[in-house]
Amino acid sequence: MSLCLSAPAFLWYDDFPLEPGILGKGKFITFEGIEGCGKTLQLSLLEAELCHRLGEWVFTREPGGTEFGRELRQILLGKGSAPRAPVAELLLYMADRVQHLDQVIRPALARGAVVLCDRYLDATLAYQGHARGLGFPLIDEMAAVLGLLKPDLTLVLDLDVELALSRARQRNRLEGSDALGRFEAEETEFHRRVQEGYRLLAAREPQRFVMVDAGGTPEEVASRVRSLVAEKAGLFDEAR
Ligand SMILES: Nc1ncnc2c1ncn2[C@@H]1O[C@H](COP(=O)(O)OP(=O)(O)OP(=O)(O)O)[C@@H](O)[C@H]1O
Ligand SMILES: [Mg+2]
Repeated sequence: MSLCLSAPAFLWYDDFPLEPGILGKGKFITFEGIEGCGKTLQLSLLEAELCHRLGEWVFTREPGGTEFGRELRQILLGKGSAPRAPVAELLLYMADRVQHLDQVIRPALARGAVVLCDRYLDATLAYQGHARGLGFPLIDEMAAVLGLLKPDLTLVLDLDVELALSRARQRNRLEGSDALGRFEAEETEFHRRVQEGYRLLAAREPQRFVMVDAGGTPEEVASRVRSLVAEKAGLFDEAR
């Protein structure tokens, strides 16, 4: 997690902690999409821009937005080869999420911060629900029972599967990890199902989801992302 906080806002929030809704409610925005579509890059470009603006911005990710979550991330995305049942995998993602919500997301929203999260519940729906075949209803039900927060806005970066996977592989090579991560090692067909899962999710909740064309240069995508978050979440409103 990284915190992007301008000095005047820091003093203000620190001195007078607020309940959400009293002076501007926090916003919860998530970035989703298949491996290599550009989520992390786009969030870092947004972070660089928002850092200079008034308000508190919390950039975080799943899995791994807390200390406990980072331990779970090692298990979930590491290269360990122990077989695991899809439901066992699902429960670990949910454990990461519950901890993340308690420790990071809810407190930040209560302070009135904008929380930008690299993957969240919709990733679980697309990967474990659709691509692994557990279905949406089981995960929807778990989310309801656990009281998981729904994002205000979800951007899905939409990119050709082959292109996204080739970018992810090249990134891994540049980072010196030639071996593929757990999900990058899946067949292309698996990633097609993940993408289909995201499209189904967007179709069932068109108010919350926005599909973003992730083709073109990073700057071109950043400009689309910027105007969407400005339009849908008022993120660049200086009065915030
Ligand atoms: N528009 C773009 N043009 C060219 N390269 C890009 C573009 N967007 C991202 N990249 C590069 O592609 C690679 C994958 O991008 P990134 O890591 O942001 O994807 P991701 O969606 O976060 O993937 P993952 O789900 O695996 O975390 C990175 O090396 C990134 O620099
Ligand atoms: Mg990423």
